[in-house]
Amino acid sequence: MLDQWLHYAIRLFHLIAGIMWIGTSFYFVWLDGSFQALSEKKEGVEGETYMVHGGFFYRVEKQRPLVMPKILHWFKYEALLTWVSGIFLLGLVYWARGGLALMGVAPFRMTQLSAIGISIGSLVVSWAVYDLLWKFVGPRAPKVALAVSLVLLVSMIHSYAKLFPGRAAFIHVGAMLGTIMVANVWMRILPNQRRMIAASLAGQEPDWAKGAAAKQRSLHNSYITIPVLITMLSNHFSFVFDHQRKDLILAALCVVGACVRHLMITAEKKQTAYWALGPIVLSLSYVVFLTIPTTIPPDHTPPVAFAEVNAILVQRCHSCHSSTPTDDVFRAPPNGVTFDAPDSVHALAPRIRLRVVEAGTMPFANKTNMTPAEREIVRRWIDQGARL
Ligand code: HEC
Repeated sequence: MLDQWLHYAIRLFHLIAGIMWIGTSFYFVWLDGSFQALSEKKEGVEGETYMVHGGFFYRVEKQRPLVMPKILHWFKYEALLTWVSGIFLLGLVYWARGGLALMGVAPFRMTQLSAIGISIGSLVVSWAVYDLLWKFVGPRAPKVALAVSLVLLVSMIHSYAKLFPGRAAFIHVGAMLGTIMVANVWMRILPNQRRMIAASLAGQEPDWAKGAAAKQRSLHNSYITIPVLITMLSNHFSFVFDHQRKDLILAALCVVGACVRHLMITAEKKQTAYWALGPIVLSLSYVVFLTIPTTIPPDHTPPVAFAEVNAILVQRCHSCHSSTPTDDVFRAPPNGVTFDAPDSVHALAPRIRLRVVEAGTMPFANKTNMTPAEREIVRRWIDQGARL
Protein backbone atom coordinates (compact mmCIF):
# COMPACT_ATOMS: atom_id res chain seq x y z
CA MET A 1 0.00 0.00 0.00
CA LEU A 2 2.78 2.42 0.94
CA ASP A 3 4.40 2.00 -2.48
CA GLN A 4 1.06 2.85 -4.12
CA TRP A 5 0.93 6.09 -2.15
CA LEU A 6 4.52 6.82 -3.17
CA HIS A 7 3.48 6.49 -6.84
CA TYR A 8 0.51 8.71 -6.18
CA ALA A 9 2.58 11.39 -4.44
CA ILE A 10 5.33 11.49 -7.07
CA ARG A 11 2.82 11.59 -9.91
CA LEU A 12 1.10 14.55 -8.29
CA PHE A 13 4.45 16.27 -7.71
CA HIS A 14 5.45 15.63 -11.34
CA LEU A 15 2.14 17.00 -12.59
CA ILE A 16 2.37 20.18 -10.50
CA ALA A 17 6.01 20.83 -11.44
CA GLY A 18 5.14 20.22 -15.10
CA ILE A 19 2.22 22.64 -14.98
CA MET A 20 4.48 25.29 -13.45
CA TRP A 21 7.19 24.72 -16.06
CA ILE A 22 4.90 24.66 -19.08
CA GLY A 23 2.85 27.50 -17.65
CA THR A 24 5.83 29.84 -17.36
CA SER A 25 7.22 28.64 -20.67
CA PHE A 26 3.97 29.33 -22.56
CA TYR A 27 3.59 32.61 -20.68
CA PHE A 28 7.05 33.87 -21.70
CA VAL A 29 6.55 32.92 -25.35
CA TRP A 30 3.30 34.90 -25.24
CA LEU A 31 4.91 37.79 -23.34
CA ASP A 32 7.78 38.02 -25.82
CA GLY A 33 5.33 38.49 -28.65
CA SER A 34 3.16 41.04 -26.84
CA PHE A 35 5.51 44.03 -26.45
CA GLN A 36 4.50 47.37 -27.92
CA ALA A 37 6.81 50.29 -28.75
CA LEU A 38 7.22 52.73 -25.85
CA SER A 39 5.22 55.98 -25.86
CA GLU A 40 8.39 57.87 -24.87
CA LYS A 41 11.84 56.43 -25.50
CA LYS A 42 13.82 55.10 -22.53
CA GLU A 43 17.42 53.91 -22.59
CA GLY A 44 17.79 50.14 -22.87
CA VAL A 45 14.02 49.52 -23.00
CA GLU A 46 12.79 47.79 -26.13
CA GLY A 47 9.06 47.59 -25.43
CA GLU A 48 6.33 47.45 -22.84
CA THR A 49 3.10 45.58 -22.28
CA TYR A 50 0.16 45.90 -19.90
CA MET A 51 -1.76 43.07 -18.30
CA VAL A 52 -4.63 42.92 -15.84
CA HIS A 53 -4.93 40.60 -12.85
CA GLY A 54 -6.85 40.90 -9.61
CA GLY A 55 -8.03 44.39 -10.40
CA PHE A 56 -4.56 45.81 -10.97
CA PHE A 57 -2.59 46.68 -14.07
CA TYR A 58 0.76 44.98 -14.43
CA ARG A 59 3.28 46.77 -16.63
CA VAL A 60 6.25 44.78 -17.94
CA GLU A 61 9.20 46.41 -19.72
CA LYS A 62 11.57 44.44 -21.89
CA GLN A 63 15.02 45.75 -20.95
CA ARG A 64 18.56 45.10 -21.97
CA PRO A 65 20.44 44.16 -18.77
CA LEU A 66 22.26 47.37 -17.78
CA VAL A 67 22.21 47.13 -13.97
CA MET A 68 21.80 43.94 -11.96
CA PRO A 69 18.50 44.05 -10.05
CA LYS A 70 18.61 43.16 -6.36
CA ILE A 71 16.40 40.11 -6.93
CA LEU A 72 16.23 38.41 -10.32
CA HIS A 73 13.82 35.51 -10.97
CA TRP A 74 15.23 32.83 -13.25
CA PHE A 75 12.38 30.25 -13.43
CA LYS A 76 14.77 27.34 -13.63
CA TYR A 77 13.73 24.90 -10.91
CA GLU A 78 10.33 24.12 -12.47
CA ALA A 79 12.13 22.37 -15.34
CA LEU A 80 14.58 20.58 -13.10
CA LEU A 81 11.96 19.33 -10.65
CA THR A 82 9.70 18.12 -13.46
CA TRP A 83 12.57 16.11 -14.88
CA VAL A 84 13.83 14.75 -11.56
CA SER A 85 10.35 13.58 -10.53
CA GLY A 86 9.77 12.17 -14.03
CA ILE A 87 12.98 10.15 -13.95
CA PHE A 88 12.13 8.96 -10.45
CA LEU A 89 8.76 7.73 -11.74
CA LEU A 90 10.40 6.09 -14.74
CA GLY A 91 12.68 4.25 -12.35
CA LEU A 92 9.86 3.30 -10.03
CA VAL A 93 7.68 1.90 -12.80
CA TYR A 94 10.23 0.53 -15.28
CA TRP A 95 13.63 0.00 -13.65
CA ALA A 96 12.30 -1.36 -10.37
CA ARG A 97 11.57 -5.11 -10.17
CA GLY A 98 14.64 -5.63 -12.38
CA GLY A 99 13.10 -4.05 -15.46
CA LEU A 100 10.19 -6.51 -15.64
CA ALA A 101 7.81 -3.90 -17.07
CA LEU A 102 10.12 -3.36 -20.06
CA MET A 103 9.91 -6.99 -21.14
CA GLY A 104 7.64 -8.77 -23.52
CA VAL A 105 7.77 -7.69 -27.15
CA ALA A 106 11.42 -7.30 -28.24
CA PRO A 107 12.15 -9.21 -31.49
CA PHE A 108 15.28 -10.72 -29.93
CA ARG A 109 16.19 -12.17 -26.56
CA MET A 110 16.72 -9.18 -24.31
CA THR A 111 17.74 -9.66 -20.68
CA GLN A 112 16.06 -7.47 -18.08
CA LEU A 113 19.38 -5.82 -17.30
CA SER A 114 20.01 -4.90 -20.94
CA ALA A 115 16.46 -3.53 -21.15
CA ILE A 116 17.26 -1.16 -18.28
CA GLY A 117 20.56 -0.33 -20.00
CA ILE A 118 18.73 0.55 -23.23
CA SER A 119 16.20 2.59 -21.27
CA ILE A 120 18.85 4.74 -19.52
CA GLY A 121 21.41 4.74 -22.33
CA SER A 122 18.91 5.87 -24.98
CA LEU A 123 18.04 8.97 -22.93
CA VAL A 124 21.70 9.98 -22.56
CA VAL A 125 22.67 9.20 -26.15
CA SER A 126 19.70 10.98 -27.72
CA TRP A 127 20.52 14.17 -25.82
CA ALA A 128 24.19 13.94 -26.90
CA VAL A 129 23.27 13.39 -30.56
CA TYR A 130 20.67 16.17 -30.56
CA ASP A 131 23.06 18.58 -28.84
CA LEU A 132 25.98 17.90 -31.19
CA LEU A 133 23.67 18.19 -34.19
CA TRP A 134 22.40 21.61 -33.15
CA LYS A 135 25.81 22.81 -31.99
CA PHE A 136 27.66 22.03 -35.21
CA VAL A 137 25.13 21.60 -38.01
CA GLY A 138 22.29 23.77 -36.67
CA PRO A 139 24.01 27.19 -36.87
CA ARG A 140 25.19 26.62 -40.48
CA ALA A 141 22.33 24.61 -41.97
CA PRO A 142 19.26 24.76 -39.72
CA LYS A 143 17.03 23.08 -42.32
CA VAL A 144 19.36 20.09 -42.56
CA ALA A 145 19.57 19.85 -38.76
CA LEU A 146 15.78 20.00 -38.53
CA ALA A 147 15.29 17.29 -41.16
CA VAL A 148 17.85 15.04 -39.45
CA SER A 149 16.21 15.66 -36.05
CA LEU A 150 12.79 14.66 -37.37
CA VAL A 151 14.12 11.50 -39.03
CA LEU A 152 15.91 10.59 -35.78
CA LEU A 153 12.75 11.22 -33.76
CA VAL A 154 10.67 8.95 -35.97
CA SER A 155 13.31 6.21 -35.83
CA MET A 156 13.46 6.48 -32.02
CA ILE A 157 9.65 6.16 -31.83
CA HIS A 158 9.85 3.11 -34.08
CA SER A 159 12.73 1.51 -32.13
CA TYR A 160 11.13 2.01 -28.73
CA ALA A 161 7.90 0.51 -30.10
CA LYS A 162 9.82 -2.53 -31.37
CA LEU A 163 11.73 -3.09 -28.10
CA PHE A 164 9.33 -2.22 -25.32
CA PRO A 165 5.61 -2.85 -24.59
CA GLY A 166 3.42 -0.01 -25.86
CA ARG A 167 3.04 1.89 -22.63
CA ALA A 168 6.79 1.78 -21.91
CA ALA A 169 7.54 2.79 -25.51
CA PHE A 170 5.32 5.88 -25.31
CA ILE A 171 6.69 7.00 -21.96
CA HIS A 172 10.27 6.57 -23.20
CA VAL A 173 9.60 8.87 -26.14
CA GLY A 174 8.23 11.38 -23.62
CA ALA A 175 11.21 10.90 -21.30
CA MET A 176 13.65 11.32 -24.18
CA LEU A 177 12.04 14.56 -25.36
CA GLY A 178 11.67 15.80 -21.76
CA THR A 179 15.34 15.08 -21.10
CA ILE A 180 16.32 17.08 -24.19
CA MET A 181 14.10 19.94 -23.01
CA VAL A 182 15.51 20.13 -19.50
CA ALA A 183 19.11 19.73 -20.72
CA ASN A 184 18.42 22.57 -23.18
CA VAL A 185 17.35 24.74 -20.26
CA TRP A 186 20.16 23.90 -17.87
CA MET A 187 23.10 23.26 -20.17
CA ARG A 188 22.47 25.65 -23.05
CA ILE A 189 19.87 28.31 -22.34
CA LEU A 190 20.80 29.31 -18.77
CA PRO A 191 24.62 29.39 -19.28
CA ASN A 192 24.29 31.40 -22.50
CA GLN A 193 21.97 33.85 -20.80
CA ARG A 194 24.38 34.20 -17.88
CA ARG A 195 27.26 35.00 -20.26
CA MET A 196 25.21 37.54 -22.18
CA ILE A 197 24.03 39.27 -19.02
CA ALA A 198 27.58 39.39 -17.66
CA ALA A 199 28.85 40.94 -20.91
CA SER A 200 26.02 43.46 -20.99
CA LEU A 201 26.56 44.48 -17.35
CA ALA A 202 30.29 44.88 -18.05
CA GLY A 203 29.42 47.32 -20.79
CA GLN A 204 30.57 44.99 -23.57
CA GLU A 205 28.63 43.96 -26.63
CA PRO A 206 27.06 40.54 -25.77
CA ASP A 207 27.81 37.64 -28.10
CA TRP A 208 24.54 37.66 -30.06
CA ALA A 209 25.27 34.24 -31.54
CA LYS A 210 24.98 32.80 -28.04
CA GLY A 211 21.68 34.57 -27.59
CA ALA A 212 20.42 33.21 -30.89
CA ALA A 213 21.50 29.68 -29.92
CA ALA A 214 19.67 29.96 -26.59
CA LYS A 215 16.59 31.27 -28.37
CA GLN A 216 16.68 28.41 -30.83
CA ARG A 217 16.75 25.85 -28.01
CA SER A 218 13.83 27.66 -26.32
CA LEU A 219 11.93 27.48 -29.57
CA HIS A 220 12.59 23.74 -29.82
CA ASN A 221 11.35 23.28 -26.26
CA SER A 222 8.22 25.19 -27.09
CA TYR A 223 7.38 22.91 -30.03
CA ILE A 224 8.28 19.73 -28.13
CA THR A 225 5.98 20.54 -25.19
CA ILE A 226 2.68 19.30 -26.60
CA PRO A 227 4.13 16.09 -28.11
CA VAL A 228 5.54 15.28 -24.65
CA LEU A 229 2.11 15.83 -23.07
CA ILE A 230 0.63 13.59 -25.77
CA THR A 231 2.97 10.71 -24.87
CA MET A 232 1.90 11.01 -21.21
CA LEU A 233 -1.81 11.24 -21.98
CA SER A 234 -1.81 8.41 -24.55
CA ASN A 235 -0.62 6.07 -21.82
CA HIS A 236 -4.15 6.04 -20.43
CA PHE A 237 -5.60 4.71 -23.67
CA SER A 238 -4.66 1.12 -24.53
CA PHE A 239 -6.29 1.39 -27.98
CA VAL A 240 -3.52 3.91 -28.73
CA PHE A 241 -0.42 2.54 -27.00
CA ASP A 242 -1.06 -1.14 -27.76
CA HIS A 243 -2.13 -0.64 -31.36
CA GLN A 244 -0.13 -2.60 -33.91
CA ARG A 245 0.93 0.63 -35.59
CA LYS A 246 1.47 2.56 -32.37
CA ASP A 247 4.69 4.03 -33.79
CA LEU A 248 2.82 5.62 -36.70
CA ILE A 249 0.06 6.81 -34.38
CA LEU A 250 2.56 8.48 -32.04
CA ALA A 251 4.51 10.05 -34.92
CA ALA A 252 1.26 11.45 -36.35
CA LEU A 253 0.18 12.74 -32.93
CA CYS A 254 3.58 14.48 -32.57
CA VAL A 255 2.87 16.28 -35.85
CA VAL A 256 -0.50 17.34 -34.42
CA GLY A 257 1.14 18.57 -31.20
CA ALA A 258 3.85 20.61 -32.91
CA CYS A 259 1.36 22.12 -35.38
CA VAL A 260 -1.08 23.05 -32.60
CA ARG A 261 1.76 24.84 -30.83
CA HIS A 262 2.65 26.60 -34.10
CA LEU A 263 -0.94 27.78 -34.43
CA MET A 264 -0.88 29.07 -30.83
CA ILE A 265 2.42 30.91 -31.23
CA THR A 266 1.51 32.52 -34.54
CA ALA A 267 -1.99 33.43 -33.32
CA GLU A 268 -0.46 35.20 -30.31
CA LYS A 269 1.56 37.31 -32.73
CA LYS A 270 -1.59 37.97 -34.79
CA GLN A 271 -0.08 36.08 -37.76
CA THR A 272 -2.05 32.85 -37.43
CA ALA A 273 -0.46 30.18 -39.64
CA TYR A 274 -3.69 28.61 -40.90
CA TRP A 275 -1.71 26.24 -43.12
CA ALA A 276 -0.89 24.28 -39.92
CA LEU A 277 -4.52 23.13 -39.88
CA GLY A 278 -3.71 21.01 -42.96
CA PRO A 279 -1.23 18.62 -41.29
CA ILE A 280 -3.41 18.59 -38.13
CA VAL A 281 -6.52 17.46 -40.00
CA LEU A 282 -4.56 14.98 -42.13
CA SER A 283 -2.74 13.42 -39.16
CA LEU A 284 -5.89 13.23 -37.04
CA SER A 285 -7.87 11.61 -39.85
CA TYR A 286 -5.03 9.14 -40.28
CA VAL A 287 -4.93 8.09 -36.61
CA VAL A 288 -8.71 7.85 -36.40
CA PHE A 289 -8.71 5.74 -39.56
CA LEU A 290 -5.97 3.49 -38.13
CA THR A 291 -7.88 2.92 -34.90
CA ILE A 292 -11.30 2.15 -36.42
CA PRO A 293 -11.90 -1.41 -35.23
CA THR A 294 -11.63 -3.76 -38.18
CA THR A 295 -14.58 -6.11 -38.50
CA ILE A 296 -13.23 -9.50 -37.54
CA PRO A 297 -14.32 -12.21 -40.01
CA PRO A 298 -16.54 -14.79 -38.31
CA ASP A 299 -14.55 -17.71 -36.98
CA HIS A 300 -15.97 -21.07 -38.17
CA THR A 301 -13.49 -23.31 -36.33
CA PRO A 302 -15.08 -25.74 -33.83
CA PRO A 303 -16.67 -23.72 -31.01
CA VAL A 304 -14.55 -23.10 -27.95
CA ALA A 305 -16.36 -23.59 -24.64
CA PHE A 306 -16.12 -20.85 -22.04
CA ALA A 307 -14.97 -23.45 -19.50
CA GLU A 308 -11.84 -24.03 -21.57
CA VAL A 309 -11.07 -20.28 -21.75
CA ASN A 310 -11.84 -19.82 -18.09
CA ALA A 311 -9.36 -22.54 -17.16
CA ILE A 312 -6.67 -20.62 -19.07
CA LEU A 313 -7.59 -17.34 -17.39
CA VAL A 314 -7.48 -18.96 -13.95
CA GLN A 315 -4.03 -20.32 -14.66
CA ARG A 316 -2.52 -17.31 -16.47
CA CYS A 317 -4.40 -14.24 -15.26
CA HIS A 318 -5.98 -14.77 -11.84
CA SER A 319 -2.67 -14.37 -10.00
CA CYS A 320 -3.11 -10.63 -10.72
CA HIS A 321 -6.68 -10.15 -12.03
CA SER A 322 -8.85 -11.56 -9.28
CA SER A 323 -10.36 -10.17 -6.13
CA THR A 324 -7.68 -12.02 -4.16
CA PRO A 325 -4.47 -11.74 -6.21
CA THR A 326 -1.58 -14.04 -5.31
CA ASP A 327 1.11 -12.21 -7.30
CA ASP A 328 4.15 -11.08 -5.30
CA VAL A 329 4.04 -7.57 -6.81
CA PHE A 330 0.42 -6.81 -7.70
CA ARG A 331 -1.43 -7.14 -4.43
CA ALA A 332 -4.58 -5.52 -5.79
CA PRO A 333 -6.12 -6.29 -9.22
CA PRO A 334 -4.40 -3.94 -11.74
CA ASN A 335 -6.74 -1.21 -13.05
CA GLY A 336 -9.44 -2.88 -10.96
CA VAL A 337 -9.77 -5.56 -13.66
CA THR A 338 -10.84 -8.98 -12.32
CA PHE A 339 -11.86 -12.11 -14.19
CA ASP A 340 -13.65 -13.88 -11.32
CA ALA A 341 -17.09 -13.34 -12.81
CA PRO A 342 -17.82 -14.76 -16.30
CA ASP A 343 -19.82 -11.60 -17.04
CA SER A 344 -16.78 -9.39 -16.59
CA VAL A 345 -14.72 -11.64 -18.87
CA HIS A 346 -17.44 -11.28 -21.50
CA ALA A 347 -17.61 -7.51 -21.05
CA LEU A 348 -13.83 -7.13 -21.27
CA ALA A 349 -13.47 -9.41 -24.33
CA PRO A 350 -12.38 -6.64 -26.76
CA ARG A 351 -9.75 -5.38 -24.32
CA ILE A 352 -8.56 -8.91 -23.63
CA ARG A 353 -8.22 -9.53 -27.37
CA LEU A 354 -6.15 -6.36 -27.77
CA ARG A 355 -3.75 -7.11 -24.90
CA VAL A 356 -3.47 -10.90 -25.20
CA VAL A 357 -3.82 -11.57 -28.93
CA GLU A 358 -2.89 -8.43 -30.87
CA ALA A 359 -0.26 -6.72 -28.70
CA GLY A 360 0.81 -9.68 -26.58
CA THR A 361 1.36 -7.35 -23.60
CA MET A 362 -0.75 -9.49 -21.22
CA PRO A 363 -0.01 -11.43 -19.09
CA PHE A 364 2.26 -8.69 -17.77
CA ALA A 365 5.81 -9.52 -18.97
CA ASN A 366 4.29 -12.96 -19.64
CA LYS A 367 5.03 -13.65 -16.00
CA THR A 368 2.64 -16.64 -15.99
CA ASN A 369 4.13 -18.14 -19.19
CA MET A 370 1.04 -18.11 -21.39
CA THR A 371 1.63 -20.16 -24.55
CA PRO A 372 0.79 -19.12 -28.15
CA ALA A 373 -1.66 -22.05 -28.33
CA GLU A 374 -3.56 -20.65 -25.33
CA ARG A 375 -3.66 -17.20 -26.93
CA GLU A 376 -5.15 -18.80 -30.03
CA ILE A 377 -7.89 -20.48 -27.98
CA VAL A 378 -8.74 -17.15 -26.34
CA ARG A 379 -8.79 -15.49 -29.77
CA ARG A 380 -11.15 -18.10 -31.23
CA TRP A 381 -13.52 -17.87 -28.29
CA ILE A 382 -13.68 -14.07 -28.60
CA ASP A 383 -14.02 -14.12 -32.40
CA GLN A 384 -16.82 -16.69 -32.08
CA GLY A 385 -18.75 -14.13 -30.07
CA ALA A 386 -17.34 -14.55 -26.53
CA ARG A 387 -20.33 -16.73 -25.59
CA LEU A 388 -20.68 -17.81 -21.95
C1 HEC B 1 1.68 -10.34 -13.27
C2 HEC B 1 0.44 -9.67 -13.22
C3 HEC B 1 -0.52 -9.76 -14.38
C4 HEC B 1 -0.96 -10.89 -15.02
C5 HEC B 1 -0.57 -12.33 -14.73
C6 HEC B 1 -1.90 -10.45 -16.00
N1 HEC B 1 -2.03 -9.10 -15.97
FE1 HEC B 1 -3.31 -7.97 -17.06
N2 HEC B 1 -2.62 -6.28 -16.17
C7 HEC B 1 -1.58 -6.24 -15.27
C8 HEC B 1 -1.25 -4.86 -15.00
C9 HEC B 1 -0.14 -4.37 -14.09
C10 HEC B 1 -2.11 -4.06 -15.77
C11 HEC B 1 -2.17 -2.55 -15.83
C12 HEC B 1 -1.07 -2.01 -16.69
C13 HEC B 1 -1.32 -2.16 -18.15
O1 HEC B 1 -2.46 -1.90 -18.60
O2 HEC B 1 -0.38 -2.53 -18.86
C14 HEC B 1 -2.97 -4.99 -16.49
C15 HEC B 1 -3.96 -4.59 -17.36
C16 HEC B 1 -4.73 -5.46 -18.09
C17 HEC B 1 -5.78 -5.07 -18.98
C18 HEC B 1 -6.16 -3.67 -19.31
C19 HEC B 1 -7.34 -3.23 -18.53
C20 HEC B 1 -7.75 -1.86 -19.02
O3 HEC B 1 -7.91 -1.00 -18.16
O4 HEC B 1 -7.86 -1.67 -20.24
C21 HEC B 1 -6.31 -6.21 -19.52
C22 HEC B 1 -7.46 -6.32 -20.52
C23 HEC B 1 -5.58 -7.31 -18.97
N3 HEC B 1 -4.65 -6.83 -18.10
C24 HEC B 1 -5.82 -8.63 -19.29
C25 HEC B 1 -5.07 -9.71 -18.80
C26 HEC B 1 -5.29 -11.07 -19.19
C27 HEC B 1 -6.36 -11.55 -20.13
C28 HEC B 1 -4.37 -11.80 -18.52
C29 HEC B 1 -4.14 -13.29 -18.60
C30 HEC B 1 -4.03 -13.86 -19.90
C31 HEC B 1 -3.59 -10.90 -17.70
N4 HEC B 1 -4.04 -9.63 -17.92
C32 HEC B 1 -2.58 -11.31 -16.85
C33 HEC B 1 -0.97 -7.30 -14.68
C34 HEC B 1 -1.18 -8.62 -15.01
